[in-house]
Amino acid sequence: MFTSLAICILLAVAGLVSSQQVAFDVASIRDSTHPVSVGTFSRAQSNFSTRSLASVTSHNGYLALAHPRFPSHQVRVKKSEFCDPTVNVYTGYLDVDYGAKHLFFYFFESRRDPDTDDVMMWINGGPGCSSSMGLLMELGPCSIDMQNVSSNGTTWNPYSWNAEANIFFLDQPVGVGFSYADYGETIETTEDAARNIHAFLTIFFETFSQFKGRALHLAGESYGGRYLPAFASYVYDQNTVAVAEGRETLNLSSVIIGNGIVDIMMVYLGRYEIECGTAAFDIPFQSINACVRMKTTLPRCQQAMQQNCVDIFEEIGCKAAVDFCQDQVSGVFANSDRNVYDISKPCVGTLCYRETEVIKDYLDQPSVRDLLGVETPKNFSSCDNDVGRAFNKRLDKYAVPSQFYIAGLLERGVPVLIYSGTYDWQCNWYASKLWLEKLEWSGNAVYNTHDFRDWIVDGHKAGEVKSAGPLTFATIRGAGHMVPHDKPAEAQAMISRWLARADF
Ligand SMILES: *[C@@H]1O[C@H](CO)[C@@H](O)[C@H](O)[C@H]1NC(C)=O
Ligand SMILES: *[C@@H]1O[C@H](CO)[C@@H](O)[C@H](O)[C@H]1NC(C)=O
Ligand SMILES: *[C@@H]1O[C@H](CO)[C@@H](O)[C@H](O)[C@H]1NC(C)=O
Ligand SMILES: *[C@@H]1O[C@H](CO)[C@@H](O)[C@H](O)[C@H]1NC(C)=O
Ligand SMILES: *[C@@H]1O[C@H](CO)[C@@H](O)[C@H](O)[C@H]1NC(C)=O
Repeated sequence: MFTSLAICILLAVAGLVSSQQVAFDVASIRDSTHPVSVGTFSRAQSNFSTRSLASVTSHNGYLALAHPRFPSHQVRVKKSEFCDPTVNVYTGYLDVDYGAKHLFFYFFESRRDPDTDDVMMWINGGPGCSSSMGLLMELGPCSIDMQNVSSNGTTWNPYSWNAEANIFFLDQPVGVGFSYADYGETIETTEDAARNIHAFLTIFFETFSQFKGRALHLAGESYGGRYLPAFASYVYDQNTVAVAEGRETLNLSSVIIGNGIVDIMMVYLGRYEIECGTAAFDIPFQSINACVRMKTTLPRCQQAMQQNCVDIFEEIGCKAAVDFCQDQVSGVFANSDRNVYDISKPCVGTLCYRETEVIKDYLDQPSVRDLLGVETPKNFSSCDNDVGRAFNKRLDKYAVPSQFYIAGLLERGVPVLIYSGTYDWQCNWYASKLWLEKLEWSGNAVYNTHDFRDWIVDGHKAGEVKSAGPLTFATIRGAGHMVPHDKPAEAQAMISRWLARADF
């Protein structure tokens, strides 16, 4: 079941969703008779160009905000009682391309000082997975209630990353979560998605003037290792254009990637070390027989990928190479019944986590959709099959080497935090270790002379860390793919130190 699909799909073994469900989704996207499909792009009434988010007081309808410099976009925003009663919460849509595409976001003010704290954007991976997964089962201000102890479906999360940052969760690209397109338009590559992200960020910062110039961190996990380097690079390059034209820039202050897929050449090597080496457990858990088979097929896998995906990207050859690697190197793992995202656990529940279904049930409740202001007729799905399939069809993961973007960002001094839970098999920490050692940038030699050292939370070793210039790599021992889900206190400590620009 894990063969030939994208390697690092967060919670997304696309094949698990039945074709019936897919056909149904397509039908609902194309349903142009639905009231939200047309006419949502009513130009904002007022003519201001900036305003304070605090002036948005409507809980019921959206306030539509236009910006004179972006005639094809508008923000619709409302206040919400969702999730965190201790801060101001807003939800809304950014309507792009004259209202044809609508990107849904949740915004939570910082629990510390919203007027001075940094701003963070969080996205989940997939491609196709909703950021509400990150919100409700990882780092958000509230967590899905798995014990049925709360009357509102969620519980307050003391380890939320909005402890010290204003944070928004964005469902992107269109088609993901509650984001939608009126006429079935799709985004099929990361580079295309980057334009909408940049539009979103620009309009957000221009419209809500109190955030202008505020430090911005772009964070995410899993396929975020493909998304974020490209998004951040696009933001950086557009800043250069903005400076030349005398416009405001986005204060891109760091990129944060958890268990990301970055250099595709290292994934299979890393998985071998997780299964057959001591990269995760003290004793390998895979059979010797399987390990010998993996080791003997690895060189052919590596060579085929290098030739067809990396040296020269050739779609048919690259697809064949990846299929070979999935089958011969990674195929045997499926027999282990272990969770691909956390080898210390069995795979239980939809996409290996029990939370997935509960989150879906919660977000499909009419009262919750009302609270959020959801305007797509589509039911929620944690990972959208159509989006995932479209990206996979374009071989988006292999088409552009993500590590080149990272090197470009580091070379220009943009801080990058790469962190990894050590029990993840899918986008394993060992692959990150390998590609970071190989990364071609001017800090490579210094990075490689440094040793890992322990980093400590509450007197206990949380993992290991090393830095060179703007680059930091941290591991979180005993966490899987979703670090804040598995090690909430450690994850929050890590992000707090990073935001404070402090040493780990
Ligand atoms: C825009 O706002 C300004 C000041 O608030 C006002 O003087 C002006 O008449 C407004 N223009 C339009 C077209 O509403
Ligand atoms: C949760 O609790 C409510 C009442 O407090 C009950 O009606 C409901 O059946 C419970 N749900 C589950 C899944 O236990
Ligand atoms: C939901 O209920 C829990 C306790 O059951 C509470 O801690 C939390 O603040 C509530 N959330 C909202 C948004 O009211
Ligand atoms: C960007 O944010 C950093 C950190 O808060 C701050 O020191 C810097 O002045 C900001 N830059 C701009 C151009 O506002
Ligand atoms: C959403 O799910 C509910 C319950 O499963 C179903 O009755 C409804 O028809 C679905 N609606 C759409 C638009 O998919």
